[in-house]
Amino acid sequence: MSKCKVIAVANQKGGVGKTTTTENVAIGLARNGKEVLIVDFDPHGDLTVCLGWKNNDALENTVSTMLDDYINDKDIKYASLILKHEEDVDVIPANIELADFEMRLVSVINREQVLSSCLEPLKNRYDYILIDCPLLLACLQ
Ligand SMILES: Nc1ncnc2c1ncn2[C@@H]1O[C@H](COP(=O)(O)OP(=O)(O)OP(=O)(O)O)[C@@H](O)[C@H]1O
Ligand SMILES: [Mg+2]
Repeated sequence: MSKCKVIAVANQKGGVGKTTTTENVAIGLARNGKEVLIVDFDPHGDLTVCLGWKNNDALENTVSTMLDDYINDKDIKYASLILKHEEDVDVIPANIELADFEMRLVSVINREQVLSSCLEPLKNRYDYILIDCPLLLACLQ
């Protein structure tokens, strides 16, 4: 059985340190030898930008591509989706496309399970999966 811990960093208030906490806890865990995946689940993509992918709107594969593939019964291309950061953390990036996705999810059955289902196959690869999410999207966990 997977020992992966999945942690959503969520708070209903904006600007309270969700992104900063996610980034620093993830890098701290990686420096302690843990295998860590960060999921940027905020349409602003602040975490993706903070980690160095400044032009995140140009990224072809993001968290929204992953969710889209899942709800359309397509294979998720994890290899091209997951970015490698120099601090030895892996990153599923986000951009503004996630804002549009949130509206499309309204009609999806079991929408609260979609992110969890997408991450399930990754749990045997990581000790921790940290998700930076604003409140609205936190209902997906
Ligand atoms: N522990 C801290 N001490 C001081 N400043 C902090 C701390 N954590 C975060 N900050 C600062 O607070 C501001 C907001 O942090 P951050 O962007 O992480 O919040 P957020 O909750 O992700 O915001 P948003 O809701 O917009 O996504 C940033 O300028 C950040 O540098
Ligand atoms: Mg943030």
